[in-house]
Amino acid sequence: MQHPGAEDREAAAENSLDAILPNSFAAGAMPIYMQRRRLPIAASREQLMYLVDSFQTTIVVGATGSGKTTQLPQFLFEEKWGNAGIIACSQPRRIAVTSDVFEMTAARVAEEMGVEIGKEVGYAVRFDDVTSEKTKIKYMTDGILFREALLDPLLSRYSVVIIDEAHERSLYTDIMLGILKKIMKKRPELRVIISSATLDAQVFKDFFNFNTTADASKDTAVIVSIEGRAFPVDIQFSKMPHADYVNESVEVVLHIHKHEEEGDILVFLTGKDEVDTVVALINDMAKSSKHLLNKIRAIPVYGGLTLDEQNQVFESLPSGVRKVVVATNIAEASITIDGIVYVVDCGLAKIKAYNPKTGLESLIVVPVSKASAQQRAGRAGRTKPGKCFRMYTERTYLGLSDTSVPEMQRSNLVSVILQLKAMGIENVLRFDFLSAPSAESMAKALELLYSLKALDDYGRLTMPFGLQLAEFPLDPPLAAMLLNSGGFLCAEETLSIAAILTVQNVFVSPSNLRVEAEEEHRKFRVEEGDHVTYVIDSILHVFDKYFQFSKVYNAFIKNKQSAQWCHKRFVNYKALQRAVVVRKQLEKYLKKFGVDIRSCRGDTVAVRKAVVSGYFSQAAKLQPDGSYATLRERTICHIHPTSVLFNRSPNYVVFNEVLQTDRIWIRDVSVVDDPKWLTDIASHFYEFKS
Ligand code: CDP
Ligand code: MG
Repeated sequence: MQHPGAEDREAAAENSLDAILPNSFAAGAMPIYMQRRRLPIAASREQLMYLVDSFQTTIVVGATGSGKTTQLPQFLFEEKWGNAGIIACSQPRRIAVTSDVFEMTAARVAEEMGVEIGKEVGYAVRFDDVTSEKTKIKYMTDGILFREALLDPLLSRYSVVIIDEAHERSLYTDIMLGILKKIMKKRPELRVIISSATLDAQVFKDFFNFNTTADASKDTAVIVSIEGRAFPVDIQFSKMPHADYVNESVEVVLHIHKHEEEGDILVFLTGKDEVDTVVALINDMAKSSKHLLNKIRAIPVYGGLTLDEQNQVFESLPSGVRKVVVATNIAEASITIDGIVYVVDCGLAKIKAYNPKTGLESLIVVPVSKASAQQRAGRAGRTKPGKCFRMYTERTYLGLSDTSVPEMQRSNLVSVILQLKAMGIENVLRFDFLSAPSAESMAKALELLYSLKALDDYGRLTMPFGLQLAEFPLDPPLAAMLLNSGGFLCAEETLSIAAILTVQNVFVSPSNLRVEAEEEHRKFRVEEGDHVTYVIDSILHVFDKYFQFSKVYNAFIKNKQSAQWCHKRFVNYKALQRAVVVRKQLEKYLKKFGVDIRSCRGDTVAVRKAVVSGYFSQAAKLQPDGSYATLRERTICHIHPTSVLFNRSPNYVVFNEVLQTDRIWIRDVSVVDDPKWLTDIASHFYEFKS
């Protein structure tokens, strides 16, 4: 829908923002326009556009909330950069952040421009492309941008590429920087803008400055800082370390509520479960305690909430009610909530970490860096002076590392190396990495790709298998499982499994109904393991119903009738709907690659062999004490309580996922009936010792 006055607005914006008189707009459009004008970045518009014209790379440094993400693409569009190609804005896709953030950003920008989302402004994340022929501003994950480069090595459809949140140093952002550097040498007209919230801009400038002489006037890269409007934030450290930061964060919130002036509170925790716990505790108290009654309200924010749920956080509460936003890392840089005056920081974050020694990648909770801690504190000083309560001691703070370790140096590189090979970069060891990963991680990745038969004896991509594997928008082991399942005659089943593994969390277990949920989930369980549970006689059953009834009960479904069924069985309706979409897309890939798509009709051996064909490197053997040891590296691990195989102790298992707390937990586990499956299917990887 076109907003009234939008055309005038665009036309006027093309001349100069300052020339516009507010009365040339419809009343409804005014507030958002005023908001645009008041962002710190608005004052730097002319300078920014001049620099982008003159330098191939512009590094823009500015505090979160200054307007980099929403305004830069619009400025470029207004300056006609859209005529030469698409203006891309890529952002890291963090664990805490789902597609919602991309949708939210694109929706906001579309609203500011008075256009419909998906037309001039769109976004693309894995399995979701909301763009059209008309799209000139495209928000996308760094992973998707990397994929575009795989199909279009010079990114010829793009005129400007904005690498947003580059300071995060995510895996694909780092890789993209290396690739862009190559492309820019061949496409001098391409413009790259690196946006960063912290002050490590010099690293980026050095990387992109092709000028090697001492004459700075010939630089090809430039740094520009946007004046922020940050107010001072008073930092308070804990006197003592907190053992139970989850419960104690509630205490801190109550303390603020009792002793501090008005203003909303933002609490940083590490994950969804913690956030839900704290939100429930605070809201229960607000309902039951007399002096808190209706004076405080907690709202959760994490990836995976619906858009509506997430938007709640931006709504203002009745006056006199204090808002407490309880969030994961998502609120550190990717979204900005107005009105926050107090920040409570647990000092920890959940990250993905790969250990080349164990060959396992897992989610772990680690202390944040000083840069992150400062970033979190800064959230309190956006509208007026604020306070940050750090739930750790000053000594702990001083011991934190300055910046986080780039993801490149703590990641499983299998995907990246496979895709670099597919781009024709044969010698990945000599790729121009901003921070090179360890030789050990690279070697591990190359070995696994060889065992998956994606690389040949000379380290070249195999045809067509290696290339197909690279093209699949999935981790190589999962893609291998799908591609190989044609041979095991069970592609129908593996498609559903892959879809469910991709969407995750299909089972719901509300804290107040654990027993009931457990009871319902038990009905789905089969003894062969989680993969089979997801598909044969269970989720496929869910699918059956979904499809079978969708024709007859279309109206019911529109009225969320099937959601009720999901509700009753404690399965996640939203996730399953998403799985249906994902499955369709994966099926397209299999068809394109000519894989024989058939059902094994309940043959669980076929399904598990297909799983082994992708995940053989993650196999473990039962130990006398009931734990498991991975076959190659002998890493001790335990089957996660949410797995159907918990306490069942099969001799050999294969697994998909690792979660690390005080122990190493494995999730999505299947029984391997005979170790010969492993040696037969992955003979490169295992030698059978009888
Ligand atoms: O990227 P940066 O952190 O510099 O700022 P931004 O994401 O462009 O946001 C600029 C401002 O736009 C924020 O302060 C928000 O007030 C507003 N905004 C919004 O209201 N809704 C969104 N979905 C995104 C931004
Ligand atoms: Mg931003």
